[in-house]
Amino acid sequence: MKVPLLDLKAQYEPIKNEINKAIFDVVENQNFILGETVKRFETKIANFIGTKHAIGVSSGSDALLISLMALDLKQSDEIITTPYSFFATAGAISRLGAKPVFAEIDEKTFNLDANEIENKITSKTKAILPVHLFGQIAEMDKILEIAEKYNLKIIEDAAQAIGSEFKNGKQAGTFGTFGCFSFYPSKNLGCFGDAGLVTTNDDELAEKIKILRSHGSKPKYYNKFIGGNFRIDAIQSAVLDVKLNYLENWTKKRQENAKTYDELFKATKLTEKITLPYTCKGNKHIFNQYVICLEERDKLMEFLKLNGIGSEIYYPVTFNNQECFAYLGYKQGDFPKSEKCAKTSLAIPVYPELTLEMQEMVVGKIKEFFSRW
Ligand SMILES: Cc1ncc(COP(=O)(O)O)c(C=O)c1O
Repeated sequence: MKVPLLDLKAQYEPIKNEINKAIFDVVENQNFILGETVKRFETKIANFIGTKHAIGVSSGSDALLISLMALDLKQSDEIITTPYSFFATAGAISRLGAKPVFAEIDEKTFNLDANEIENKITSKTKAILPVHLFGQIAEMDKILEIAEKYNLKIIEDAAQAIGSEFKNGKQAGTFGTFGCFSFYPSKNLGCFGDAGLVTTNDDELAEKIKILRSHGSKPKYYNKFIGGNFRIDAIQSAVLDVKLNYLENWTKKRQENAKTYDELFKATKLTEKITLPYTCKGNKHIFNQYVICLEERDKLMEFLKLNGIGSEIYYPVTFNNQECFAYLGYKQGDFPKSEKCAKTSLAIPVYPELTLEMQEMVVGKIKEFFSRW
């Protein structure tokens, strides 16, 4: 038996007819750019997330970029974010010429440690960009307090966190000026290519995002801003519109799978060797990834691969150690907790269609690895 990290075919198979029909409807009506299909999806997902506006864009990376563009970032502006995330988080800031300023994470949750933010604030700080990594919301109560105290904007990188809730019941993407989501195929709500979403409760900024996603022109060919082509495809919206009906159910299955892993690991006493994911009290973690930490990570990954089990390192290099960010002047060792996670973290399969038998095999093989090690 093989256990891949993700099995998109298993997700597609039972809803194939519905999805194919939705795609075919777009093909039949030939309205590929924006239009009714996109609007329908945007209304539905805004209701689901709980924001006034949800604007479909071309990717999660572009959701971050266009949100920062809407805030009119200047070259001297600084944005505080985590050093431990997917590249796009910090890349979006740098691409606009602003400066990413990193603050250490809480290694239990892998998210920004709110206590590390305040001493990074300078007169140039414009915003805080927390990431809800692996599907758990960052410490938004404390982050909101800091943002209010220093009059800073918040842009949430909620790329991995659709449907996750903070302990106060609010969903990812509803806290900041903007919430940025990715529909990359491996996300809990994934499309058939690239797409993303920006959420906001601000009417004016929502309008600005809509203008920016079509080159900044309104009316057409009269450019108010310098935007770009950041539009979501109607075909992707059609796929997502169908998949959104299943998201809650898929999330429940991911949570059940996470619980099963927790129990299996505890029963085998493997918890002496590996650290399990930690969910803060009251939070709804949606487990885009189930990430364990262990010293022997690289050897275990190799062993799992030899045994037909998929796993992945998210992320092997922290931003302070990325070659392209050398100009920021950080050095190795500046963020020991993040750097430790980069060396020890391993995502194992947690997708909704995973069976108990598969999970038992994963845990069994990890046990076997340690008995040989
Ligand atoms: C935390 C994070 N931010 C941003 C992105 C960028 O999203 P996309 O791949 O849709 O551009 C991703 C997705 O890979 C992500 O995981």
